[in-house]
Amino acid sequence: MLFSTMSQVHVVNVPDDGGDTLTSLNDNGVLIPEFINGPGIQGVRSVKIRDDDIMLCTYPKSGTNWVFEITRELLTGEITQDDIGMDQTFLEYGPEERYADLQSPRILCSHLLMKHLPEDVLNKKIKVISVLRNPKDVAVSFYNFSTTIPCAKYKGQWKNYLNPLFQGKFMYGSWMDYVTDWEQVKKTNPDLPVLTLFYEDIKQDQMREMRRICEFLGVERTDDFLSRVCDNTTITSMRAIKVTTTEYGVFRKGGVGDWKNWFTVAQNEWFDQLYQEKMADCHLQFKYTL
Ligand code: A3P
Repeated sequence: MLFSTMSQVHVVNVPDDGGDTLTSLNDNGVLIPEFINGPGIQGVRSVKIRDDDIMLCTYPKSGTNWVFEITRELLTGEITQDDIGMDQTFLEYGPEERYADLQSPRILCSHLLMKHLPEDVLNKKIKVISVLRNPKDVAVSFYNFSTTIPCAKYKGQWKNYLNPLFQGKFMYGSWMDYVTDWEQVKKTNPDLPVLTLFYEDIKQDQMREMRRICEFLGVERTDDFLSRVCDNTTITSMRAIKVTTTEYGVFRKGGVGDWKNWFTVAQNEWFDQLYQEKMADCHLQFKYTL
């Protein structure tokens, strides 16, 4: 392991409401997946950022793989089999050498809060793409991911998962804290170029959202090219290309509204109440169905 502050890093087994545990690493108070073999939370702060780097920032299961691939193709102007995997550019996943030699402009990814990202993200005011997804679908996706990913060693039931998830007890903490923290960052740093995308909007009209991405990146692509990117980034296409990661449930259903198959009426009422309490000041509007 490459962690600089080993003493502050330890494995934690957090119980759900039924006593089943989910394993992660506690790195200086931040819970990250145990497969991570990176520079540590403190190491990420000093990662060298180039002026033209693009940060892709998401809470887990919000469509990171999808938007990475779309952005990569729009940026390079080429529809290719992806030679640079998203995981390779994840700041907290591995040592800086993994992405240090990549050609500019790089797309760097992270699920961390701004205060844990490299200091130069704010200093250099690099472009940030923030992808958000409705929390009910995120929860379902995260549950399925957590029961599939070997390092989490989680065998718990859905009914016992939701409450600790939204209390922020599992890896990467609570969705609500993540979203409100990023909203605050956007508010207090109006000169930081941030493009906010919603997973549901991309599902609804991928061409429109890709035009927004192009404009943000300052690239011009024809409609014909955009429609080829659409074809190449369907969940079926991506599943076929990235077959090695499908076992971890990364390319599962890829829709909007699967939460209705999972949330009970009681869970839904509980969640809506919690949302009202925790997100009262948040102006974002999430779509739960299309
Ligand atoms: P579901 O589990 O709801 O299917 P992330 O990449 O941030 O880990 O997000 C994973 C979620 O995005 C999963 O949601 C996954 O199926 C979905 N996803 C991945 N690729 C996609 C694509 N090409 N189109 C739509 N959704 C996709």
